[in-house]
Amino acid sequence: MEDNTLDPQLNKVTEEDDLVQHVNNPIIGLKPIIKKYLGVPNHADQIGSKFFFTDGEAKVELVVVTDEIIRIRLAPHGVFLDEFSYGVPKVPQEATAFTLFENDQEFRVSTGIINCHIRKADFFISFSDADGTVTNADAVPMHWEENVAAGGYYVFCTKDSAPKEAFFGLGDKPTDLNLRGKRFVNWNTDAYSFQWNQDPIYRTIPFYISINEGISYGIFFDNTFKSHFDFGAEESNKTSFWADGGEMQYYYIHGPHMMDVVKNYHKLTGTHPMPPLWAFGYHQCRWSYYPENKVRKIATTFREQKIPCDGIYLDIDYMDGYRCFTWNKKYFPDPVKMVKELADDGFKTVVIIDPGIRVDDNYWVFKEGKENKYFCRRSDDYFMEGHVWPGRCQFPDFTNPEVREWWGGLFQGLVDAGVAGVWNDMNEPAVFGTGTFPDDVRHQYDGYRGSHRKAHNVYGMQMVRATYEGLRKIMKNKRPFTITRAGYSGVQRYSSVWTGDNVATWEHLKLGNIQLQRLSMSGVPFCGTDIGGFSGEPDGELFTRWIQLGTFAPFMRAHSAGDTKEREPWSFGEPYTAINRKFIELRYKLIPYLYSTFWEHHRYGFPILRPIVMQEQIESDNYFRQDEFTYGDKILICPVLEPGQKSRIVYLPVGKWYNFWTLEVVDGGKEIEVETPLETIPIFVKAGSVIPEYPVMQYVGEKEIEEVKLNCYYIETEANSFFFEDYGETFAYEQDIYSEKKFAVSGSKTSYTIQQSMEGLYTPRYETYAFAVSGLPFNVTEIIVDGKPVTDFTVNDKVLEFKHSKTFKKIEIQ
Ligand code: GLC
Repeated sequence: MEDNTLDPQLNKVTEEDDLVQHVNNPIIGLKPIIKKYLGVPNHADQIGSKFFFTDGEAKVELVVVTDEIIRIRLAPHGVFLDEFSYGVPKVPQEATAFTLFENDQEFRVSTGIINCHIRKADFFISFSDADGTVTNADAVPMHWEENVAAGGYYVFCTKDSAPKEAFFGLGDKPTDLNLRGKRFVNWNTDAYSFQWNQDPIYRTIPFYISINEGISYGIFFDNTFKSHFDFGAEESNKTSFWADGGEMQYYYIHGPHMMDVVKNYHKLTGTHPMPPLWAFGYHQCRWSYYPENKVRKIATTFREQKIPCDGIYLDIDYMDGYRCFTWNKKYFPDPVKMVKELADDGFKTVVIIDPGIRVDDNYWVFKEGKENKYFCRRSDDYFMEGHVWPGRCQFPDFTNPEVREWWGGLFQGLVDAGVAGVWNDMNEPAVFGTGTFPDDVRHQYDGYRGSHRKAHNVYGMQMVRATYEGLRKIMKNKRPFTITRAGYSGVQRYSSVWTGDNVATWEHLKLGNIQLQRLSMSGVPFCGTDIGGFSGEPDGELFTRWIQLGTFAPFMRAHSAGDTKEREPWSFGEPYTAINRKFIELRYKLIPYLYSTFWEHHRYGFPILRPIVMQEQIESDNYFRQDEFTYGDKILICPVLEPGQKSRIVYLPVGKWYNFWTLEVVDGGKEIEVETPLETIPIFVKAGSVIPEYPVMQYVGEKEIEEVKLNCYYIETEANSFFFEDYGETFAYEQDIYSEKKFAVSGSKTSYTIQQSMEGLYTPRYETYAFAVSGLPFNVTEIIVDGKPVTDFTVNDKVLEFKHSKTFKKIEIQ
């Protein structure tokens, strides 16, 4: 469909001069498409935090959600759809104060932090901040087209964009980080071996972040139909978003900092629950490890090679004819025994479960689904059938709460067998040959019935929701681990994600780096790529560089297609094995730091990975940086993304940074050249950080932790760090059973002080901290802990080392 929303001539359109286009619609033949624009607002009503404006027929609803968030909705004929969203299960009502003003020019709703202006002349809607700076403004009024074939509307919104405005977000799009100048479509798609710029791929996250002259805002277009975004591709000074159905409904989310936008987006769509601690370890996957001897061999090789690993995956071949919830008894004669033995050796077994259920009257899952009418049907009531791995399949309607409940219960057998996590794949939904379901498939949609046009983009999210909620019930108070390929905004409430079927090329390593940053800032924190590339063959160098990047991915899993060569961390021989081991060990040492960062995500909505633009959004050069990112807010990573690279340029934000490997202190605010032998990638730690470190273990919980190392990086001013711990596998944190420690440091030319404060009801079992303080600019003569001197300390290579009980309050180093 052609979009000609961008013509300013069309601003004020009456019934008579409606734009009439003709399209050749396969169902209804040649029909006019009538485009209509909002007219002149003549009236405003208020009910609590909701305001309504009308031009006589169409209505616009404005909801003050919080002081920073306003929602806009459009009803072309004055009747709004029912309030229901999978993305925002409950619209927060947190606005503290808001007022409606009216003058000759406009209606204005103000919260004290933002203003929403509705221009009387033409229904243009714009937003400004408390200083009156307009951050976002309509370029034409909201408009719609009647979609006769589907019985709904195509809905459009077009905004001005400033010459230097940059755009970020939209989930997993495989393209440059800054989306300016590009057009995208959201329609969840199985995208095997996707390429740079391919669109759409697996996920729909209709949320973008704008940044212009240092001020940031976000738009979340909460519409599950096929949606489109144009960031100045058609006309460089306009940004449009539109959908092939549903309501024009968007949230304006104010910054001014990008971090505030992301946090506020999480306020709407929720954050990720705390995953089990083991999920932060290394995961080994491959299509497919079978028979069980093969699985055991992989597991024992990890232990023999002393390469830490927590997760081991069973891809589709563990099932009987790819029937979900069954075992192939030839390959896995005694799954309970195998899973138990793996667990005894520290491996958590994760199994794949796809949505396609084989049509087979002798198969209990199919029989139950059929008897209870749980499978999707076409508009004429015939079943939605399609071919996937098991052959002819039917597909549960996961938008039906009863079906979700049933599906969740099906995991009982797998959990009883000891399975610790579930991998949901092919849930775009993917169908061989046709790609996906036809549009006319009907969905229950939690009582708000609709066709596949409405449900397609949420199908995968509702599948993994059913999986997560079912597991959570069955596993009682234990945290489930789930991973999904498809998703919609809010999927983070139920699952981690991976970026799908990537390729073993250097270009894909680059793409993966960008995709993970993008997913992180789009509200999908627990994400990873198939390390090494799913299809194709990496050489040892590419695999090692990918392990190095994967060490700092929120989720770390190697995976590969079945027709490729062996792909474990030792598969490429030396020197690769040793380097891979060193990095996976580093992953394990940093687990307490990652876990603390994840807690900050869970509790406050911070992303795990943060692109440079999120650190320094004033600098417009940073709108184009996409290699470096920070892991949490203290560690900066710059992966090596080219073969044979001996050194590379790294940008460090303003401030002092420690080279992680050499402890050399570098001034930021500039680019520097860093050597990149295969053994290392550029890693820098922010001055003032206190980074907790666990001892290396072969798997999480292998040994009792006896002491925790605190790596302290001197700063001449002040800084804070957090350290979160809990049991790591239950939901006790919801009852405040956790420990959140804050380390406040302050430095001068002659002293360094570390103060510790604690919150929460959990007490870790270890007693001791081992301090390693780098960068002190003076010779240490005295250490006083809570008023008492510590005499036992050493200074090795300029690093001050000493131990002390974890309960200290104040350490003074002089
Ligand atoms: C899909 C998945 C891939 C999996 C394969 C077989 O291609 O994306 O990860 O290994 O199916 O199940």
